[in-house]
Amino acid sequence: MADIGEVLRDRLAAAFGTVTGSTLDPVLRRSRHADFQADGALGQPGARAVAAAVVEAVDLADLCSDVTVVGPGFINLTLSDAALAEWLAAAAADDRLGVSTVEPETVVVDYSGPNAAKEMHVGHLRSTVIGDAAVRVLEYLGHTVIRQNHLGDWGTNFGMLVEHLADGGELDFATLYTAARRKFEADPAFQERARRRVVLLQTGDPQTIALWRSIVQTSKSYFQGLYDQLGVRLQDGDFAGESGYNDALDGVVDDLLALGLLRESDGALCAFPEGFTTRDGAPLPLIVRKRDGGYGYAATDLAALRYRIDELKATRLLYVVGAPQRQHLEMVFAVARAAGWLAPPVRAEHVAFGSVLGADGKMLRSRTGGAVKLTELLTEAVERAGGATIGIGALKYADLSSDRIKGYTFDYDRMLATNGDTAPYLQYAHVRVASIFRRGGIDGADGEFVIAHPAEHALALELLAFPGAVARAGETLELHRLTAHLHDVAVAFTAFFEQCQVLRAPEPVRAGRLALCRLTARVLATGLDLLGIEAPERM
Ligand code: ARG
Repeated sequence: MADIGEVLRDRLAAAFGTVTGSTLDPVLRRSRHADFQADGALGQPGARAVAAAVVEAVDLADLCSDVTVVGPGFINLTLSDAALAEWLAAAAADDRLGVSTVEPETVVVDYSGPNAAKEMHVGHLRSTVIGDAAVRVLEYLGHTVIRQNHLGDWGTNFGMLVEHLADGGELDFATLYTAARRKFEADPAFQERARRRVVLLQTGDPQTIALWRSIVQTSKSYFQGLYDQLGVRLQDGDFAGESGYNDALDGVVDDLLALGLLRESDGALCAFPEGFTTRDGAPLPLIVRKRDGGYGYAATDLAALRYRIDELKATRLLYVVGAPQRQHLEMVFAVARAAGWLAPPVRAEHVAFGSVLGADGKMLRSRTGGAVKLTELLTEAVERAGGATIGIGALKYADLSSDRIKGYTFDYDRMLATNGDTAPYLQYAHVRVASIFRRGGIDGADGEFVIAHPAEHALALELLAFPGAVARAGETLELHRLTAHLHDVAVAFTAFFEQCQVLRAPEPVRAGRLALCRLTARVLATGLDLLGIEAPERM
């Protein structure tokens, strides 16, 4: 099913073409003065006359009750109530509420990516929540989505952690890292043993590997517990840790060397992708192999990128990673492009996000001043909300509804408010609809849509904007635009509900309003589900 806004745009674009002889974007927007406004004529010589000619040429009789030129050349469009009712009926008859499936592709979503033996921080929470919504939206649109949880499970830290276990340290996720770290800092002999352990790990010593594995396994179970609590789709099989690329790293270096893309610098092997410079304008290195012969984060990311393209056959690679890693990822992409590994139609995108701030405007800290543990945030949100559905929903919505790249201030009171741009507000709108059906004892098929009241008209417009909002979310991953749309739906429903009687209205108005209510509930529930948020029947 097409999107009604898109049909309007296409028809206007065609008319603009006839009138001006060139292709012109009508620039259609929602408007306060009408349902939509097109300002494509503005900027054209004789804009008002162009707009008038377009209105003359365009055929919108089946959609609009009013098409008028105003001001210097705006075209105001008002949809007819009959057209709205017809489009609503089509949306309601569709399991997908009018959302079309797209040309499917294989999309890899790299998200969450915590580090073994370490608590997830709020950055990982953001990645997990945003990544999960991206996965849901892309899957809904018909793409094949492969989740890749790039677990940090390799590196020199593990020398210390394994040595601590070998020393009789306890395999407990909560204490392992700090206990090992404390020993490492206090005891030079332990430090030395930890260093030797790194070599044993790299050379595959069986006892060392077994201990390392136990740390990774404990960490995975811990993270999986959080994922389950959060209600995200990540599963055990989605872990694709850094260590999994170890065998591919030599190949990455060999191939880059053969392509002449690596240079030695201070004993390390580095790529100097074009366009990246230090503050003084010198070429910026991406370290692919360290001076000690070890591989780091960049080499692993290069191997992962190749794997995702060559083995997973993905054509779109998404990296849901904090904004501070932008340069790292851009450099990895640039090297992969230079090597010919990343080439159209394949593209890689950094789905970047900003920081979560505390009330003081600084990075969010716990009461004791340390980094906040994710579990504490979850527990407190659920406690304050009096339940997981509302608490977790509020937490996710607060994250998703802020402009992703800007970050946001963490505030329990605001996220849990039942009024405002919050999950509880949307959930409450859903509950209201459910209660109408309960009170009315209604469970039969829906009646016919009848649009007459301005509040019905306004709600209908919002419901019909859902397909476009979902489609755009899949392209831009600007999930805050999808939350804003759902909020508009809830606001329009609230206004409708205040102005229009439903159960006590005479037929056929009653049936028409019940149909509107039903579609509202379906749009809200589907939209919230795309964000990973539950839509309760009661609260
Ligand atoms: N483990 C990393 C961190 O905590 C995030 C991994 C992001 N993904 C990637 N392919 N680099 O910062």
